[in-house]
This record gives sequence, C-alpha cells and structure tokens, in this order.
Amino acid sequence: MDTEHLFKRSIQDREHFWKEQAREIRWFRFPEQILSENKNSYPQWFPDGELNMCYLCIDKHIEDGFGEQTAIVYDSPVTGQKKTYTFSQAREEISKLAGGLASLGLQKGDTAVIYMPMIPQTLFAMLACARIGVIHNVVFGGFAPHELVVRIDDCRPKALITATAGIEIARRIPYLPLVEKAIELAQDKVENIIVYNRKLADNQHEMFDGLTDYEELVKKSEPADCIAVESTHPLYLLYTSGTTGKPKGITRDTGGYATALKFSMNYIYGVNPGETYWAASDFGWAVGHSFSVYGPLINRNTTIIFEGKPVMTPDAGTFWRIISEYKVSVMFTAPTAIRAIKKEDPDGELVKKYDLRHFKKQFLAGERCDVATLDWFEKYIGVPAIDHWWQTESGWPMVGLMTSDGNYKIKRASAGKPIPGYDIKIFDENGLELDAHQEGYLIIRLPLPPGALLGIWNDNDRFHNSYLSQYKGYYFSGDGAIKDEDGYIFITGRVDDVINVAGHRLSTSEMEEIVSSHPDVAECAVVGIDDDLKGQVPFATVVLKNGSDISNDLIEQQIVQTVREKISAVACLKNVMTVKRLPKTRSGKILRKLIRTLLDGKEFRIPSTIDDEKIIEEIQLKIKEYRS
Ligand code: COA
Ligand code: AMP
Repeated sequence: MDTEHLFKRSIQDREHFWKEQAREIRWFRFPEQILSENKNSYPQWFPDGELNMCYLCIDKHIEDGFGEQTAIVYDSPVTGQKKTYTFSQAREEISKLAGGLASLGLQKGDTAVIYMPMIPQTLFAMLACARIGVIHNVVFGGFAPHELVVRIDDCRPKALITATAGIEIARRIPYLPLVEKAIELAQDKVENIIVYNRKLADNQHEMFDGLTDYEELVKKSEPADCIAVESTHPLYLLYTSGTTGKPKGITRDTGGYATALKFSMNYIYGVNPGETYWAASDFGWAVGHSFSVYGPLINRNTTIIFEGKPVMTPDAGTFWRIISEYKVSVMFTAPTAIRAIKKEDPDGELVKKYDLRHFKKQFLAGERCDVATLDWFEKYIGVPAIDHWWQTESGWPMVGLMTSDGNYKIKRASAGKPIPGYDIKIFDENGLELDAHQEGYLIIRLPLPPGALLGIWNDNDRFHNSYLSQYKGYYFSGDGAIKDEDGYIFITGRVDDVINVAGHRLSTSEMEEIVSSHPDVAECAVVGIDDDLKGQVPFATVVLKNGSDISNDLIEQQIVQTVREKISAVACLKNVMTVKRLPKTRSGKILRKLIRTLLDGKEFRIPSTIDDEKIIEEIQLKIKEYRS
C-alpha cells in the first residue's frame, strides 16, 4: 500500500486504520472500543484493551521460539566491557527484579524514578516496572540533584532505582552523593532506594543508610509474571522542558504506544524482526525510551546499549565500529553526534576501517540537521541520512518518510511529510491555514494518533494551556514550520522558550530563574544562539543591581557554575554578558528575539513596539566588547 494511501486512510478512516495496526501486537484482551473521548474531551485509544509492555518486548518472543536470539548488546568503550543478553536471559533478570520490586511493596499504579547511566540494568529496571504495572520515570543521569528533586516531588515515587556511578569518557560521576542530596531536599522521603553497585572504585564512603542492593534484591527474589494492564494505564512519565521553569511530566499510555511503535518500526524505519537496530540516545530522553528500549524490542530487533561518546571513546570511528561489529542495519542519532564525528574525521578516514555492508539507513532527529552534515554523511558513509521530526510529547515520529518499501524521496533540509495519523497544518497566529512556503505554527488536528501523550501528570490545566488552548481542536507543537507544494515540511525552530543544545531539550526560562537568583543580578534574558557543533547554546545577558561592582568575568564564572550545579553540565551555559539595560517593548516585555538576532549577528528588523531604539547600538557595542 503506498504512503499517500496509508496517510489518507489514517485520517479519513482513523478507527479502522488503527484497529488494523493494533492487530500487529499481541493483546491479552483485544480492544472493542478503538477511540473514546475522556471527560476532558481529549481522545484516548483502545480504552478497553488489556496488555503488558514487558510481555510484548520479552516474553512474547520467547513464547514464539526466539528465546535464544540476542535481545540486548551492551558495548561500553568507557569501561572496556561488552556483554550480550538473549531474550531468555533478559527475562530472567527482569522478572526477578520485578519480583524484588513487588516484595518491597510496589504495585500497579505506583511510580518509580530511575536515575541511571547507560547500562543494561537501566533497561531491566524499566521493563521490570512495566511488568508489574509500576509507572517509571527515567531521569537523565547527567541531571543535577535539583532536577531530580523536581521530579520526585511531582511524581512521589515509591522507589528510586539508581547506580553507584556514570562515566563521562574517563571521569567517574558518582551518583550516590547526588541522590543523597536530592532525597534530603525532596518534600517526602522515598521509601526504597535501590542501588546497582558498578564496583568501579572503592566507593564505600558514598553509601548511605537505607540503601537496597540491586543485585542482592534480584538474587533473593522470585520471578514475577507480567500482569494485564488497561491500554490507557500509564507506562511511564517523562519530564521535559516547557516554557516555565518547572518541567512537564509527559504521561504515556501502554496500548496506543505499543501500537504506534510497532507501526514505526514497520513503516518508518522499515526494519525487519531479527535485525539489529541502534538508537544512540541516552535512556533519559524520549528517543531512549521509544527507540533504544520499547520499539526495537517489540519488533524483536536486537538493541544496543552504548556507553560512550561518538568521539574520544576512543575516537571518531566508534559508531562505525559498532555498526560493523553488530551488523546494525538501521541507526538513529542526533545530528550533533554526526557533526562531532565530522569535525574529528572530516575526510572520513576512520570510516574506511569498517565493514558497513549491513548498514542500510541512518535516521536523524532531535534538532535541525544542516545540509552540510547530510552531505558529509552521504559522501563518506554512503547510506541515506533521513531526517524526521518528533517530540517527547508524541513519543514517535510525526514528520518523516515511510521507508519500508524503499519508495521514498528525501528533500534536503526537510524533515519529511506528515506521518500517518498526524493531520498537520501550518497556521498563522489567527488560526488561518497558510499557503505553501509561508512560515507559521505547526499544529495538528485532534485526535492525535495512538502513542501520543495522555496528558501532563497531575496537571490537567497545564496540559490544556500548553497544547490545546491555542487553537481549538488542535494540538500546538511549539515549533514553527513551512510546508512546500509537495507537502514536505521544513521545521524552522521553536517558537517558545525551549532550546535544543546538542539534542538536549532545555528551557531558557528555567535558566533565567537560576541566573536571576544570583545576588548581583537585577534582571536577565537567556536566549539560544547558533552553534556550529551543538546547534544551539544558551547565552545569558544580565543587568546588575544598582551598586554592584562585580566584574563580568567573576559573575560569568559564578553563574556558569550555578547552572551546572542546578541543571546540568549539558545545559552548556558558558557565556554571560553584563549590560546596562535590556531591550524592551513599551509595555516592558524583554525583546529576547532581538537579543538573539543581535548575538547571532543576523539581519534584524527593529520591532515596532521597542521603547528606545538606541538600545540596539548599545547592545551591539557590548557584544563587540564581550567577544574581543
Ligand atoms: N552525566 C554527567 N555529565 C554529562 C552527561 C551525563 N550523562 N552527559 C553529558 N555530560 C556533561 C559532559 O561531560 C560535558 O561536561 P563538561 O562541560 O564538563 O565537559 C557537558 O555535560 C556537555 O555535554 P554534551 O553537550 O553532551 O557534550 P559532549 O561533548 O560530552 O558530547 C555529543 C557531545 C554530541 C556526543 C552529545 O551531546 C550527544 O550525544 N548528543 C546527542 C543527545 C541525544 O542523543 N539526544 C536524544 C535525541 S536523538
Ligand atoms: P524533544 O522533546 O527533546 O525530543 O525535543 C523536541 C524538539 O526538538 C522539537 O519540538 C523540535 O524543536 C526539535 N526537533 C526534533 N526533531 C527535529 C528535527 N528533525 N528538525 C528540527 N527540529 C527538531
């Protein structure tokens, strides 16, 4: 069936279309009702269906006779370890961990925070939760205690599963001191803290009272079976940056998500069961959930857990080594990773060392991909580099290409076409649909297809205000875009205070809150400026309080340190510039877009609402001074 036809059916004959797709996964109880409207008139999929995600990822394949197939490869250049697990071996670990969690009193509907590095035990913990209906919340291992506290306070976990350390190239990052600090700051005590001891160093002094040893728990526990959960039962919460300082707990269902992921593996990635599929993302991001864990395992693909960086572990040939060693057929990464490789190996010398015969397609997402990177990829790697666009909220691609039948056409700089299920429009601010080639807001007609967010955890008002209130009957993505005459979509970037730094989604408002808390700062603006390697990096412009005589160097150093301690080093806030005043509108709003354009050195139009045009010259002079 051709793509156009699939797309049309997904919109015009929505329920039949998704009922057929739902048959591609194995339910404990197949849904009779396909789409329902809940009390908030936000649609839900397959409400009376019952299934279990861990069963689909693991047990089903064993029942079907594939227990001895490799399910997981762990490749860790930073520790020199390599290990594989078959589906049967994975079930052994997961079912016993699930039994252990149950023995600690965790049951269906409870939440558990997982704060772990890129090791197999993280995946086991996610699936162990899914096995017994516990809702997991994976927190990116690079986040600082404050970020952990925000999540703990919001989802009130009954357990926190962690490890003794992560590794950043050659640097051990001890997690327990961070966890201890978070627990101290959190409103409620977390009853159970389970720690996987990686035994990387003698770290006895980092242990604190009340820890449960992960390995002992697994060893002494009886395996637990997969329980049936309703299709709408939350599988996980994943917090993501919004336009305020507080992250949003995106809530994902089970049945719609499983259906959408199976569809993605079949049609978008076009990968066959039994092949190796690798998404090089941290488990802490949406990509890590959907395409390092659930998608490939549902599809019976071997998935790879890579603990390292695309460069320096040991060199920029690491990705090609892994692709060759494990016969990866389809890979997914962020463009920034390819840019980092390209910078180290501009002539593709390291690529030549490896046999990439099995490698068929490279998918890219997470941020805009520049054409030069696509060109480099195709020239030196020789497989198609396929951009696609999605968000934590959707959980799977919304714009992309359906590559399964090989009959697709890449348009450089475009993220592709709307994926079946996503009725995408480009609107102006008044809700009028724009013609081809006009830039506007990317919005999607409701209902969203299966797999997209159920809501925001514990905050229905925020869910409505963030996504559903801008245009009635539509989901507001927060991205700008242009459509061309062939229906291809070109993403132009966020229209809110969210920025993307090396594929990491961050909120500039959150950074502004931290910058403003510095005792010498009267007010500030943090904007995302262009960066050749990371796509965007934050830049803070601050106005000092009257009477403050702190030097630019000192305040920069202090603010940079505080942002690292409060959010993470991945925020990459490295620049702080002091100015006498910020450009504002007559009504007192900070003109952040103008600041960004001036910092990027791009052409600008003077906003008609500006209160004093002279400020532009002032800021330009400051920028020159700051950069000299
Ligand atoms: N734990 C602790 N610290 C971490 C960390 C983690 N898990 N991940 C990153 N950091 C630190 C880094 O060590 C670095 O610290 P430094 O400033 O002291 O040097 C800082 O955060 C910035 O990290 P990053 O921006 O990731 O830069 P990098 O040079 O370490 O790596 C890339 C560059 C391109 C390899 C990396 O950014 C990457 O893989 N990005 C893709 C993200 C992604 O997969 N997103 C999902 C969507 S596809
Ligand atoms: P996240 O929720 O962390 O996956 O980030 C989602 C945001 O990343 C989107 O709203 C976009 O702004 C950006 N993004 C993701 N994929 C792409 C892409 N292919 N091109 C441009 N921007 C992208």
